[in-house]
Amino acid sequence: MASIPDLPATSLLLDPAVRAELWRRLAEIIEGYTTGVGQARVAPELALEEIRKALAPFDFERPVPPLEALGFAAEGLWRWQVHTPHPRYFGLFNPAPTTMGIAADALVAAFNPQLAAWSHSPLAAEMEQHLVRAFGDRFGFDPARVEGTFTSGGAEANHTALSTALTRAFPEVGRRGLLALRSQPVLYVSPEAHDSFLKAARLAGLGTEAVREVGVDSRLRMVPEDLAARIREDREAGLSPFLVVATVGSTSAGAIDPVADLAQVADEEGGLWLHVDAAWGGAAALVPELRPALDGVARASSLTFDAHKWLSVPMGAGMYITRHPGILERTFRVAAGYMPREGAALPVADPYAHSMQWSRRFIGLKVFLSLAAAGWQGYEAAIRHQTAMGDRLRDRLREEGWEVVNETPLPVVCFVGSGSAGRSAAFLEAVAADVVASGEAWISTAALGEAGPALRACITNYRTEPEDVDALVAALGRARARQQG
Ligand SMILES: Cc1ncc(COP(=O)(O)O)c(C=O)c1O
Repeated sequence: MASIPDLPATSLLLDPAVRAELWRRLAEIIEGYTTGVGQARVAPELALEEIRKALAPFDFERPVPPLEALGFAAEGLWRWQVHTPHPRYFGLFNPAPTTMGIAADALVAAFNPQLAAWSHSPLAAEMEQHLVRAFGDRFGFDPARVEGTFTSGGAEANHTALSTALTRAFPEVGRRGLLALRSQPVLYVSPEAHDSFLKAARLAGLGTEAVREVGVDSRLRMVPEDLAARIREDREAGLSPFLVVATVGSTSAGAIDPVADLAQVADEEGGLWLHVDAAWGGAAALVPELRPALDGVARASSLTFDAHKWLSVPMGAGMYITRHPGILERTFRVAAGYMPREGAALPVADPYAHSMQWSRRFIGLKVFLSLAAAGWQGYEAAIRHQTAMGDRLRDRLREEGWEVVNETPLPVVCFVGSGSAGRSAAFLEAVAADVVASGEAWISTAALGEAGPALRACITNYRTEPEDVDALVAALGRARARQQG
């Protein structure tokens, strides 16, 4: 104990002069990263030992000067992360964050609003609901009836969808559990659906066998006739279908399920809940020429949309939106005697009673400020630009003898080399690893069902320009030559 210096409790606050210097330095670091990230290697070496060695001196027995600690973190992040904000990161749906989003997250950390009780953070709660209505409207839902909640991301939104669909189909489950049911509830996804539904099924106690895979066509889209057949078979086998999941913009290949036709099947099969996972592809709603991707979405019971994907706000910012008012309340409300009641007389909902989380971060501000500053038209331009970069990538790859194997209007491109050797998993993985190791770009591979493995490159960054696309194609050419040579 004697070795611990006698610091006042306000050591957590820091002196005004130190704070001023800290904010100045923080702003400098953020600006330096924003302007300089394009010159960095995209991916780090996975230097586990070095990272652990760098962390080891932090035994927290002796306070470290705040600026030194900040500098350590910033330097470490520069060295040891895949730079998803890099214009040559052609990866998973991780964006370069909007500047207003970064500012919003800092502001939220400082004001620290609590998004459990409405009355604790009325502006924040209302701002999020304002956004839910605005996006609901864009997706074709009636803004007067739409309800929704912000989530940590798409996985939580999908889990929320499963829970609400289960509550709607089997109201007794909330109190008496799955054992109260006479038959096993089952849900339907395509093999291209996000695997978060498997987790959700496991966590809900349904088990992963409750997730039934429906066949897809050559464009990896769920086949409505196959869906109808599977539902009937399962019913005959004594199971209880309750949820159909359509994906708009699948993770691997940007596949777009025929939502209108699937809605028809869901209706004909006794009004099953139709959830649309548009975590990434939902942004198509903001660009007129991409809107056909969302045909039929207005008929969905609920929808997942991740602002931290194509709206480029910092992670995490998911949304669950439904056109069934009251279902969130029925799924999530519990009596909590200690929660504030000042808002009880108002026509408002406590966020904790409408979502999985309890006290949580004010997620919506980064969406609100980004959208306020860019406007719908700013987003339209950014999304259109990325789509054009995706088209350029497809063209350039074909010119260089690669074969594009997925079909989507969205900017994710899956491709293989020529002949059977060019399609082999070993070749494709070696090419991806070579590009990543070069530090020039980041891409990955994906398994596309019967189409087999492929290289996958996605335009995730509104700052990716034609020269970045060309640099990727050149790096791929060199990697291919090394593999073949
Ligand atoms: C279609 C789709 N749904 C859901 C998710 C999960 O989203 P998150 O990682 O934000 O939880 C992803 C992630 O990439 C996705 O692509």
